[in-house]
Amino acid sequence: MIIETPSLTLRPWTAADVDALVKNANDRRIWANVRDRFPHPYTRADAEGWVALCASRAQPAEALAIVVDGEAAGAIGLERFDDVHRCTAEIGYWLGAAYWGRGLATEAVIALTRAGFEQLGLERVQAGIFDWNRASVRVLEKAGYAFEARMRRHVVKDGRVGDVLLYARVREDAPAGERR
Ligand SMILES: CC(C)(COP(=O)(O)OP(=O)(O)OC[C@H]1O[C@@H](n2cnc3c(N)ncnc32)[C@H](O)[C@@H]1OP(=O)(O)O)[C@@H](O)C(=O)NCCC(=O)NCCS
Repeated sequence: MIIETPSLTLRPWTAADVDALVKNANDRRIWANVRDRFPHPYTRADAEGWVALCASRAQPAEALAIVVDGEAAGAIGLERFDDVHRCTAEIGYWLGAAYWGRGLATEAVIALTRAGFEQLGLERVQAGIFDWNRASVRVLEKAGYAFEARMRRHVVKDGRVGDVLLYARVREDAPAGERR
């Protein structure tokens, strides 16, 4: 899957992205807001492993590079649930700090969510945000996601127990909810 928006391209990872991936992903501020399976420090071997893993995956939107000005600046993906939840996906994303504060993550989330509904047949896209992550909450709000629940003490990250905020957008919300 390839998605073009005014400021960025979402496309599959390639071996040529490894240097940019290490540069942008090797940041404790990113690690602190994502799952522990995201490595820190983020090495060249991690980046090569990630690109190889993505190449082996069958789902078209599970792991895309966010490309800005020709560089892989971050990542975004839709991980589909299965069985009776198969029309739901979890959206996840991160962006290198050099790119923060320009509305890029919001633009990427809006574009991939729309593709999830229009191209992948999803009914619902959701995200679980660590409750200290105000920037990500803001991204989802700007992308038209609704707050649904506070899952109390649902995360242990960096030695800290915290709540997780569940946000979701459903097909029938689209496209009206894209408030900025
Ligand atoms: C979350 C993240 C993707 C945001 O990327 P971004 O491109 O800077 O996001 P945007 O510019 O689209 O929007 C960020 C919004 O958060 C706001 N914001 C940033 N830091 C904030 C803070 N500490 N408190 C409150 N709001 C904050 C910005 O002001 C902006 O809102 P505005 O447009 O109303 O001013 C990026 O910070 C990141 O990669 N963080 C680490 C990984 C992560 O958290 N991933 C998401 C896991 S669920």
